Amino acid sequence: MSLIELKSVSKIYPLGNQQVVAVANLSLKIKAGEFTVLAGPSGSGKTTLLNLIGCLDQPSEGEVWLDGHNVGKEEAKQLAKLRLNKIGFIFQSYNLIPVLTAAENAEFTLMLLGIDKVKRRQRIVELFAELGLQGLEDRNPSDLSGGQQQRVAIARAMAAQPAVILADEPTASLDLQTSEDLLALMQRLNETQGVTFVFSSHDPLVISHARRVVSLRDGCLESDR
Ligand SMILES: Nc1ncnc2c1ncn2[C@@H]1O[C@H](COP(=O)(O)OP(=O)(O)OP(=O)(O)O)[C@@H](O)[C@H]1O
Ligand SMILES: [Mg+2]
Repeated sequence: MSLIELKSVSKIYPLGNQQVVAVANLSLKIKAGEFTVLAGPSGSGKTTLLNLIGCLDQPSEGEVWLDGHNVGKEEAKQLAKLRLNKIGFIFQSYNLIPVLTAAENAEFTLMLLGIDKVKRRQRIVELFAELGLQGLEDRNPSDLSGGQQQRVAIARAMAAQPAVILADEPTASLDLQTSEDLLALMQRLNETQGVTFVFSSHDPLVISHARRVVSLRDGCLESDR
């Protein structure tokens, strides 16, 4: 069974008295363990598609299935729970909470899930070692480099062992070397821990690393390899 399945999904935004078709009748299946990049030019629908997969938005038409749940049929409360349990998010701009330390940011989801402090700290120690962040636990985000902040964001996304990590342009704010390091890290996590990644990019380097490239154009699937 697919972890993610989009069935003839469209997303239409109202814009004044016009409509913007951001995703048009798109079908896609992604299995657990895949390492997939959504490619395509600006405006092709990458962010819209990630938001639909991540239950941050609902399709105008069609169905989005996540781990056996029809997302469009879930109540808001159920949807929030599904998001919390199944999905980790990584953003281009890191989105760490400035007043929290690196460790507090990383354990945020675990806190929301009601995991006790000792267990949370154990998981953070493990993750910070895995991600090369040891010693940075008590720093605020503003005292970390971009690459370090993005690794804290990965730690936060991975902490609760979600079914899939969704990342919208995760390397767009990083320099070339840091982007390469981050990609290698995500690939290692995919291969050794089976973490499923779906991320968007128009960076040729990122695209060249992905095992599967889903290319979008004008909200339609242009190619899938
Ligand atoms: N809230 C909105 N209201 C109206 N139109 C929108 C909205 N969000 C996105 N769009 C339009 O939907 C289309 C797809 O946008 P989307 O942000 O998904 O593209 P993208 O591939 O992520 O682009 P980029 O590479 O620039 O991030 C674009 O034409 C965009 O202008
Ligand atoms: Mg985008």
